[in-house]
Amino acid sequence: MPLLELRDVTRAFFADRARSKLMVALDNVSLVIEEGEFVSLLGPSGCGKTVTLNLLAGFLEPTTGQVLFRGEEVRGPSPERGVVFQDYSLFPWLSVGENVAYALKGSKVPKAERDQRVHNALQQVGLDDMEDRRPNLLSGGMKQRVAIARLLAMDSAAMLMDEPFSALDEQTRTALDDSLRNLWSQQGKTIVFVTHSIAEAIAISSRIVLYSSSPGRIVREWQLPNDMPRDLDYPEARALRDEIRAHMDPPRL
Ligand SMILES: Nc1ncnc2c1ncn2[C@@H]1O[C@H](COP(=O)(O)OP(=O)(O)OP(=O)(O)O)[C@@H](O)[C@H]1O
Ligand SMILES: [Mg+2]
Repeated sequence: MPLLELRDVTRAFFADRARSKLMVALDNVSLVIEEGEFVSLLGPSGCGKTVTLNLLAGFLEPTTGQVLFRGEEVRGPSPERGVVFQDYSLFPWLSVGENVAYALKGSKVPKAERDQRVHNALQQVGLDDMEDRRPNLLSGGMKQRVAIARLLAMDSAAMLMDEPFSALDEQTRTALDDSLRNLWSQQGKTIVFVTHSIAEAIAISSRIVLYSSSPGRIVREWQLPNDMPRDLDYPEARALRDEIRAHMDPPRL
């Protein structure tokens, strides 16, 4: 059974205040995501990537069709499907450790185990020495690592990430892409990663799903072998980039 599935999903919104006109954001999208995949959703601005992620997270409902998690219809958000947003969604008044622990609030995990989980999660993203700091003392890249640690502490089966590194400088982004890919290959988590960067999608994914511009439909998919070179200095990676480029619509402005 797949971990996540969109089955013939269409999602429309009212396009105007009077609610007289409908705008179709996603048009009959079907997508099956197996456990352990690292899937990038790629496409021009406005093509429905964030809408797709919000449907998988349970923040939005489909207009028609179904969203399934382990074969059951998604009825709302769950710690099983953790989200990392583009902007840093940390509580400024809590320490780094408390921000991570917050994810376990309300769960029945005993305190000693909770502390251990928080510590382990921060260790996995290389921030165990920052546990007592406030988020305002962290760089943007560190904040996003805290957000990732939160999902690790929750032990989310699916990590849903909406352009998590796009506000960061190129070098930090590349470093975080690499560490996320390492984390994924060590942990066997399932990651759905939204990006509009072809190079980033090639660097990290096991599969790339390309959307058309609005209304969003799936144009094509590419499966990327684990041992394929991901650096654009290599002809194989460059050839894939050119092929994806040739299929990608310009953004609709
Ligand atoms: N809550 C909403 N109400 C009305 N329209 C919406 C809503 N959410 C999304 N849309 C529309 O759905 C379309 C897809 O939006 P979405 O945010 O998924 O695009 P995206 O691919 O994530 O783009 P970007 O790369 O710019 O983030 C857009 O036209 C957007 O205006
Ligand atoms: Mg978006």
